[in-house]
Amino acid sequence: MKTQVLVTGGTGYIGSHTAVELIEEGFDVVIIDNLSNSQESVLDGIEKITGVRPAFEKFDLCEREKVKAFFQRYPRIEAIIHFAALKAVGESVKKPLEYYRNNLVSLINLLECMKGNVLKNFIFSSSCTVYGQPDVLPVTEKAPVKKALSPYGNTKQIAEEIIQDYLASCADDLRCISLRYFNPIGAHPSALIGELPTGVPQNLVPFVTQTAIGIHSELKVFGNDYNTPDGTCIRDYIYVMDLAKAHVAALKRLLENKHKSPFEVFNLGTGKGLSVLEIITTFEKVTGVKLNYRFAPRREGDIEKIWADPSLANRELGWKAETSLEDTLLSAWKWEKYIRGKNN
Ligand code: NAD
Ligand code: WQD
Repeated sequence: MKTQVLVTGGTGYIGSHTAVELIEEGFDVVIIDNLSNSQESVLDGIEKITGVRPAFEKFDLCEREKVKAFFQRYPRIEAIIHFAALKAVGESVKKPLEYYRNNLVSLINLLECMKGNVLKNFIFSSSCTVYGQPDVLPVTEKAPVKKALSPYGNTKQIAEEIIQDYLASCADDLRCISLRYFNPIGAHPSALIGELPTGVPQNLVPFVTQTAIGIHSELKVFGNDYNTPDGTCIRDYIYVMDLAKAHVAALKRLLENKHKSPFEVFNLGTGKGLSVLEIITTFEKVTGVKLNYRFAPRREGDIEKIWADPSLANRELGWKAETSLEDTLLSAWKWEKYIRGKNN
């Protein structure tokens, strides 16, 4: 019988790509999502790609009784990959309590309700945002967690602390891997699933593809006076399917008891820092589309530069981000054209 895995937030961006990868690796996927930032039609995309439609339960993980009843209905679940969260940094500054409630109550409900002999494996979606502006680059997992720059970032830090405190308190053989993502971009190569930002995208690559297709007249490059080679900010952009594969590797590590402590943390990045201008010029080169961009003032709260040292994940998970930036940006462009009904 296939190992059953709960993917919370599984109709969302990273969750849906991971669901595809899990199904293709032979897992039985069950998704919980309240569709607050995704659509049920994502399940059609997953089914078209894999030939399997995952079980889907629509409810809010903040509703404890529903979470409890869910685990009674699905006693075979052996692992949880917990993606569900609100993730818009700017919105979190305006609605901090909504973010703390949603991201932390959902986590506590899952931890409280997952008790049992079978279900002891937990994978958490964390973020490089916990490092703030690191003093040393590339950043390793040993770098200090810095004061969060937003309520969103703080939910990730607090969540990691909640998990660690809980693991230390319980006699059960619970274990957790916290995966700190750098900047996930791109879409499944089929273009049947991808990132669906609501409203005006805050993230660079969706704004790039939307500008290229004509939704926005110009892309603003936030700041060109940073202390970087071309003056624009540097990030570690990782292809979402590479990220999805890392989740499968982390899951197998837990299921096969290969973890070295009950709480492990891995950076998921490429190890390569790229500037905003490098993203723009590579996008233009691979798509042949000229981007109308201009330099604008710095965006408040942006850090100057960050990229990962992913060697721990490379070594321990036996995983590496392998897809080129060119292929990754092409996948994002293919997806943008697909959702706007332009297939060539
Ligand atoms: P997403 O918004 O596309 O997916 C999250 C999903 O969770 C959505 O489908 C949403 O409807 C669902 N959800 C939110 N709150 C819920 C609740 N209370 N109950 C049930 N479902 C709920 O986001 P994503 O980009 O796929 O991010 C997934 C995870 O990865 C999040 O935890 C996010 O913080 C983390 N992360 C994302 C990035 C990024 O740049 N995308 C970077 C680092 C970490
Ligand atoms: C990348 C670069 C912008 C848009 C965010 C979250 C972080 C994490 C990942 C979840 C920056 C520049 C952007 C635009 C631009 N998410 N930019 N013009 O800021 O690294 O991180 O996503 O955990 O918590 O804060 O990603 O894609 O927003 O920006 O010039 O229109 O692109 O200034 O330098 P960021 P991003």
